[in-house]
Amino acid sequence: MDQKTKGKLYGIGVGPGDPELLTVKAVKAIESADIIISPTKKMGKPSIALRIADPYINPETELVIMDFPMLSLSEERDKLEAQWGENADQIQKMLDDGKTAVFLTLGDPMVYSTYSYVMKFLLDRGMAVETISGVPSFCSLAAHLNLPLTQGEESLGIVGMTQPEAEVNAVLDAHQNIVVMKVSANAKGLAEALKKRHLENHFVMISNIGMANEKVTRNIEDLEGKVPYLSTVLIKKQNEA
Ligand SMILES: C[S@@+](CC[C@H](N)C(=O)[O-])C[C@H]1O[C@@H](n2cnc3c(N)ncnc32)[C@H](O)[C@@H]1O
Repeated sequence: MDQKTKGKLYGIGVGPGDPELLTVKAVKAIESADIIISPTKKMGKPSIALRIADPYINPETELVIMDFPMLSLSEERDKLEAQWGENADQIQKMLDDGKTAVFLTLGDPMVYSTYSYVMKFLLDRGMAVETISGVPSFCSLAAHLNLPLTQGEESLGIVGMTQPEAEVNAVLDAHQNIVVMKVSANAKGLAEALKKRHLENHFVMISNIGMANEKVTRNIEDLEGKVPYLSTVLIKKQNEA
């Protein structure tokens, strides 16, 4: 497809929390950008991705906070699509003006990220888009705890607790190692599923990895209480996690 514009959008992953986990490529893109786009779930509340990338952002660079409300993809897809379309229009205008824009994403841009929807809109319109990978939260978790995600012939499943219970159960039953994301959406449900499978001693949860309020727990009771939004669980059936 012809690239109709002079400008370019970089979608970059800033990693899960530690600003030292940005790639050199991501930092270079941030440093040379005309515009930094920071998505936020709630206008007025700065995004976590922006906080992580902050040390690399030139104070002179234009900052655009873009609204990505937290709506249910299955129940409110129309509203979300309208918002993504509006956001894509705004980015297209920047690119039509010949600007280089950087869209910040927590972790990796291709893992459960709003960037991926806007990216599709812009690619369909023939815009120049380059995505720069970041460290996903679950890879960071495994490295941080010196725990392999998979070894030898083992499989790895990834599931979000926003998915229907049957899908979560299917992933839990199909793999030896499982990464559970968006835990806070139904942490109690996950605790029950672990107990039912006698996996109480086979999981670890990290909240806010790479941040000042980071917490690591292997206590099932912590899943039954209030769980921070940025929480990921790794389940290892063959070993204690
Ligand atoms: C919308 S998804 C974003 C995923 C992100 N793109 C990635 O590559 O990790 C949000 C989920 O990612 C996980 N997550 C992201 N950052 C995290 C962090 N600093 N600590 C623990 N989990 C994190 C949590 O499971 C959280 O609910």
